[in-house]
Amino acid sequence: MAVIRETDQFVEIMDEEIVLVKRDGVTIETLAGEEIEREAYTAELDASDIEKGTYPHYMLKETDEQPAVIRKIIQAYQNEAGDVTVNPKIVKELLDTDRIHIVACGTSYHAGLVGKNLIEKLAEVPVEVHVSSEFGYNMPLLTEKPLFIFITQSGETADSRQVLVKIKELGYRSLTITNVPGSTLDREADNTMYLHAGPEIAVASTKAYTAQIAALSILATVVGREKGLSMAIDFDLIVELGIVANAMETLVDSKETIEHIAGEYLATTRNAFFLGRHVDYFVAMEAALKLKEISYIQAEGFASGELKHGTIALIEDGTPVLALITQENINWNIRGNVKEVLARGANACILSMEGVNQPGDQFVIPKVHELLTPLASVVPCQLLAYYAALHRGCDVDKPRNLAKSVTVE
Ligand code: G6P
Repeated sequence: MAVIRETDQFVEIMDEEIVLVKRDGVTIETLAGEEIEREAYTAELDASDIEKGTYPHYMLKETDEQPAVIRKIIQAYQNEAGDVTVNPKIVKELLDTDRIHIVACGTSYHAGLVGKNLIEKLAEVPVEVHVSSEFGYNMPLLTEKPLFIFITQSGETADSRQVLVKIKELGYRSLTITNVPGSTLDREADNTMYLHAGPEIAVASTKAYTAQIAALSILATVVGREKGLSMAIDFDLIVELGIVANAMETLVDSKETIEHIAGEYLATTRNAFFLGRHVDYFVAMEAALKLKEISYIQAEGFASGELKHGTIALIEDGTPVLALITQENINWNIRGNVKEVLARGANACILSMEGVNQPGDQFVIPKVHELLTPLASVVPCQLLAYYAALHRGCDVDKPRNLAKSVTVE
């Protein structure tokens, strides 16, 4: 991306190769000095994809792009009959495995947690989710036919690649879900599923997260249908993702309200808590990560039932506690937890989904299918982080100490 204005012709370089840039041209050699012939490929990217346009920040642009990205993914994974479809080679791998291991870092790890729920519910394949950097020390006991799914926006994250190299050595199968065709994890895995989210430039990931979840929902549905599972067969995913895209549009149009909430709850605080249960807990983790990354507020995403086992000790007068509620079956439990923190002086804010909302909730998220709620509920959280960072005068797109693509372990 950094040089797309100069050229769209690129040549891949593998490990243990040396590129010699001389006055009369460029050659690639092995460590032993043998010259390597390799064709250039054309990068499918143009300079306008990486412009900020009229937006003040890439993060805001990328947050706004999410409805369009969901529609693009629907298009990319739809067949002529209007059904979702995935490369049969990939589907075969999922039909053939007895356990999936999702491996990822940061925001992609959080998407993996949501993906586990989707795959287990729709395709009935057991899934474990691993933080890449921990995998080497906590290698799980593997079953007979494990399949490794690497979720990575950039396709370059060193910690994830390290795991891919290791499991390949052990002879296991792999699938990469990435936004960047031609990236290392794309090239090195057995199969790849692309996100079609367009370049993501802001360090804090937004549209890649929702694209990852959408892609995982498609994969889970296709595999579930292939297995004849009624939950997947009855799930009209294309319609439901269309509803998600519309909901996202409403959400990105609610900037004024969200900016106001950010001002009220997050402008001056040192710390903040996001509470959730079930999938809302996974989104709470992502919401906290977004806030930490760009506003430098110490934030934690918490399973709200766990609060009373320690963390509630941190709640004092004015501590911001933001609760996410999208699921019917956890609605009253989490509202009970909110009462507990309110009684200890917290500045509590409820973001609930239409259908489970109550009078007095600070923000209402338009209703989407219960399996897809993270795609909608994460959007106000992204915007809350964005406006909190603005209120505090932080550099939204280039937060201190962070890199977009982390190529060291
Ligand atoms: C970095 C970025 C995060 C991202 C993580 C994983 O830490 O700042 O936003 O989630 O890497 O990146 P990947 O490209 O593998 O999804």
